[in-house]
Amino acid sequence: MALLPTYCAQPKKLPSGGCEMSGATSNERQQLKVFELLAEQLQEHLRSTVDEETVHKIVDERIAQARLPRPIEIRQGETVVGRLDERPHAQFEQLLELVNEGHRNILMVGPAGCGKTTLAKSLAQALSLDFGFLSLSAGISETHLFGRTLPQADGSWQYKPSRFVEVYVKGGVFLLDEFDAADANVMVAINAALANGVLANPNGQIHERHAKCYVLAAANTWGRGGDHQYVGRNQLDAATLDRFVLSTMHIEYDTDLERDLVAAANLDGKGDELLEWVSGVRERITRSRLRRIASTRLVVNAAAAMKAGRDLSQVKARYFLDWSADEKAKVGE
Ligand SMILES: Nc1ncnc2c1ncn2[C@@H]1O[C@H](COP(=O)(O)OP(=O)(O)O)[C@@H](O)[C@H]1O
Ligand SMILES: [Mg+2]
Repeated sequence: MALLPTYCAQPKKLPSGGCEMSGATSNERQQLKVFELLAEQLQEHLRSTVDEETVHKIVDERIAQARLPRPIEIRQGETVVGRLDERPHAQFEQLLELVNEGHRNILMVGPAGCGKTTLAKSLAQALSLDFGFLSLSAGISETHLFGRTLPQADGSWQYKPSRFVEVYVKGGVFLLDEFDAADANVMVAINAALANGVLANPNGQIHERHAKCYVLAAANTWGRGGDHQYVGRNQLDAATLDRFVLSTMHIEYDTDLERDLVAAANLDGKGDELLEWVSGVRERITRSRLRRIASTRLVVNAAAAMKAGRDLSQVKARYFLDWSADEKAKVGE
């Protein structure tokens, strides 16, 4: 039976109450518009008794609350299988759709800091499953993936499973991160585990894949070698990519989520300035094909810095610290 997300309003925080389906984001925007109109009227009405700054503060707080992510319940028929307290990436539903199609191997391709790792964690939380993670960067061998045999005090050798094997056997969501940075030999070993429903540990012992073992892979490239941005990435072989045929997603920056995260930081009107700057830099990085990134992580960290009292020019100074004059000129700085 298909897994379906239900968006539940937080009654205390959202004026409309009740439960709604996925139109949540546009509803939130309508509510915001109402808040903004209300703010204007309030300001007129209270001008004589409350100063403008206080009104702004009250309204900003209300807006920030209204934009807070709402919990999402994941239902299978009538049964609630899990609940997400944080607002997931906009493409979470697309991920859930692939799960509903029966895919157990899913590849997410997207720029650094767009939310791939968080999406994998959200899936584990939404399905109430264990979460495991391994970055396949240089130095990772088959041992990290499939466990190893260790000497015991009595002189015997005992197999110690890895997290991957644990999740493979007991069920859960396992993220193979930096998938396009993996060593070719490791990939060959992964291929077999992903395709066959069984894996052999270094002792030759066979482990069967749990029905609820979801292997997610995250990469910055399409597995066809490095590009101008991610130069050192490996080419994945056709057999590896075939494990993800029709279950590969392109993940983009979720600008609505970024707007919500900034609104929640309550930056006294400076949030828009920040978002506008990031969006401009992002656009120019792409246009000029610069090897730079303006990620959701940048938005989150900039909002935290500004909340702690830094202003946007200080954030920019830190962000552009190692940029050349030419690069800066290309993004209009
Ligand atoms: N759903 C979310 N809710 C809150 N913050 C998020 C969410 N998704 C991403 N982020 C923020 O963006 C940053 C980058 O996300 P991450 O999942 O690590 O991206 P990636 O794996 O693509 O590099 C995180 O550190 C987090 O601060
Ligand atoms: Mg990541």
